[in-house]
Amino acid sequence: MKKVSIIYGSTTGNTERVAEMIKDNMAECDVTVANVCNVKDDMITSADLVLFGSSTWGYGEIQDDFLGFYESMNSGLLSGKEVAVFGCGDNDGFPDVFCEAVNLITEKASECGAKVIGEGLKVDGDVDDNIAAIEAFAKSLA
Ligand SMILES: Cc1cc2nc3c(=O)[nH]c(=O)nc-3n(C[C@H](O)[C@H](O)[C@H](O)COP(=O)(O)O)c2cc1C
Repeated sequence: MKKVSIIYGSTTGNTERVAEMIKDNMAECDVTVANVCNVKDDMITSADLVLFGSSTWGYGEIQDDFLGFYESMNSGLLSGKEVAVFGCGDNDGFPDVFCEAVNLITEKASECGAKVIGEGLKVDGDVDDNIAAIEAFAKSLA
């Protein structure tokens, strides 16, 4: 069974909710969901696939809790690892930096030698308006 770790940072709960929805749509996998504040290295090293989720705050900045982890991301942890990235944002309010955290984490994971799958899932506004895209993202990775 494919082992998947979903590691998220979320200030108001939207990205956390997306993380749980992704898990619910990967029923055939062995999925662990964890807040980035509680992440342990073995959640990454022992997984076949790691999903990183972060919302975007400030002006195009990584979510506060995720930022410390982002700064510690390294090739020892991620080289050769399959990774996918998702996050919540607001395209109306921040069109120039919409879901910029997804872009930044994708770039950093690639720099660390991870095999990043796909473009990343960018959830705009209300999570409930994005259910089909979230399900499709999860199923494409299962
Ligand atoms: C002060 C503030 C700054 C924000 N900055 C951005 C931004 O730069 N880019 C973006 O796409 N969304 C931005 N957002 C929208 C949040 O990312 C969005 O509300 C998201 O759903 C929060 O997810 P979370 O609950 O998982 O933290 C901002 C929201 C607020 C209130």
